[in-house]
Amino acid sequence: ANGYFTYDPGFVSTASCESKITYIDGNNGLLLHRGYPIEQLAEHSDYLETCYLLIYGELPNAVEKEQFQKTIMKHTMVHEQLIDLFSGFRRDAHPMAVMCGVVGALSAFYHDSLDITNENHREVCAYRLISKMPTLAAMAYKYSTGQPFMYPRNDLSYGGNFLHMMFATPCEEYEVSPVLARAMDRIFLLHADHEQNASTSTVRLAGSSGANPFACIAAGIAALWGPAHGGANEAVLVMLNEIGNVENIDEFIERAKDKDDPFRLMGFGHRVYKNFDPRAKVMKQTCDEVLHELGLQDDPLFKIAKRLEQIALEDEYFIEKKLYPNVDFYSGIILKALGVPTEMFTVIFATGRTPGWIAHWHEMISGDYRIGRPRQLYTGATSRDFVPLERR
Ligand code: SDX
Repeated sequence: ANGYFTYDPGFVSTASCESKITYIDGNNGLLLHRGYPIEQLAEHSDYLETCYLLIYGELPNAVEKEQFQKTIMKHTMVHEQLIDLFSGFRRDAHPMAVMCGVVGALSAFYHDSLDITNENHREVCAYRLISKMPTLAAMAYKYSTGQPFMYPRNDLSYGGNFLHMMFATPCEEYEVSPVLARAMDRIFLLHADHEQNASTSTVRLAGSSGANPFACIAAGIAALWGPAHGGANEAVLVMLNEIGNVENIDEFIERAKDKDDPFRLMGFGHRVYKNFDPRAKVMKQTCDEVLHELGLQDDPLFKIAKRLEQIALEDEYFIEKKLYPNVDFYSGIILKALGVPTEMFTVIFATGRTPGWIAHWHEMISGDYRIGRPRQLYTGATSRDFVPLERR
C-alpha cells in the first residue's frame, strides 16, 4: 500500500513507479534531474542541455552538446501537409485542443516507418518532438490570430526561435531580445520534467501498451490541460485579474479556506511539495528580470501576486495545510509580460515538458516493461440476479 490505495504487486501498473530521471523531496523542496538540483541547472545550464541530460542521463560534453543542438535545430520544420490540418480548427479553438490534435497527427506523418523496439527510431522520435513542439505551439498561436505562420529560424537559440515564430511577421524586422530569449529558455527548463505527475504517468501508461510516442505525448498534453495541473498557470492570471487589486486579497484568501466555496488559490499547493516548490523561487527571480527588462516593474498583477504570496505565507491555514506557491504561480505573469495570451500558457508548459515525457517513455520502453494495469478498490453492488423490466 502506498498510502493512497492497496495493490497486489503482481498487478501494479508497471507504467509508473521506478525511474532514474527525476527525484523530488516534497518536504525539503528538493528537485533533482539525474542528480543535479534544478537551481543549478537553471543558473548554469540551458534547456537543450537539460533535455539531453533527462534523456541520456549525463550532461553532454562540448562535442555532444553541439551535435545535439544541431540535430534538434535541423528538425524544427513540420511537414508542409501538416499545415493544412490547422485549417480544420475554428480560429477561436483553445490552442491546447489544437495541440492535442496536431501532435497526435504527427503519428500519421512519422509513425508508419517507426519501430519502437529500434533504439535509433526511438532517438529520432525524441529529436522530432523536441524540435517540432515549439513550431506547432507557435503555429497554434498564429492560427488563432489570423497571421501567417512563421518558419523556424535555426540560427536562433531554442527560446529565441520560439519567440520569433510567435511574434515575428513577414512584413517587418523582429529583434529577439537576448534577455527575453534566455527567460523563455529558462521557463522551458523549469517545466522540463517533474517525476511521475499526472501527465507523465499518462504518457507512461499509454506507452506501456506499445502505442507510438506521438500518440503518447498527445495523451500527456490532454492530461496536462486540466486547471489542477498544467492549466493552473492560465488560471492564476484569471484569478489575479478577478482579485483586481491588493485591497481585495483578504476576501479571496478567506474564500480559499471556505470548504463550501470551490475557489482555490491557483498557483498554490502541490500534490508532493509540502514546502516551497524550488521552481517557484527561480520563476519569481526570472519574473523580476523580465519585468525589469521590459520596464514593467510596476505591473499591477505582479504587485497583487507578490502581496498575495506574502499574505498567504503568513496565514495559519496555508501554513497548516503546507500550501506554498508552485511553478505555475509566477510563470503566467512572465508570459503575459512577454505578450503571450493566457490561453497559450499551458501550451508553453506542454512544450517545456516534452523532454520529460520523452525521457520517461524512453526509460520504460528501453527496459523490460509490461502493460500498465492499475487495479481498483471495488465499492459497487455485489453479484445479483437480473430484474425483468415489468418488475422494476
Ligand atoms: C502542477 O504533480 C506535479 O508534479 C504537477 C506539476 C508538474 O510539474 O507536473 O508540479 C505541475 O500541476 C502544479 C500544481 C498546479 N495546480 C494548481 O496550482 C491548482 C491549485 N492547487 C490545487 O488545486 C491543489 O493544491 C493541487 C491540485 C495542486 C493539489 O491538491 P491536493 O492534492 O488536494 O492538495 P493537498 O492534499 O496538499 O491539500 C491539502 C489541503 C486540502 O484541504 P483538506 O482536504 O485537508 O481540508 O489544502 C487544500 C486541500 O483542499 N488545498 C487548497 C489549495 N490546494 C490544496 N486550498 C486552497 N487553495 C489551494 N490552492
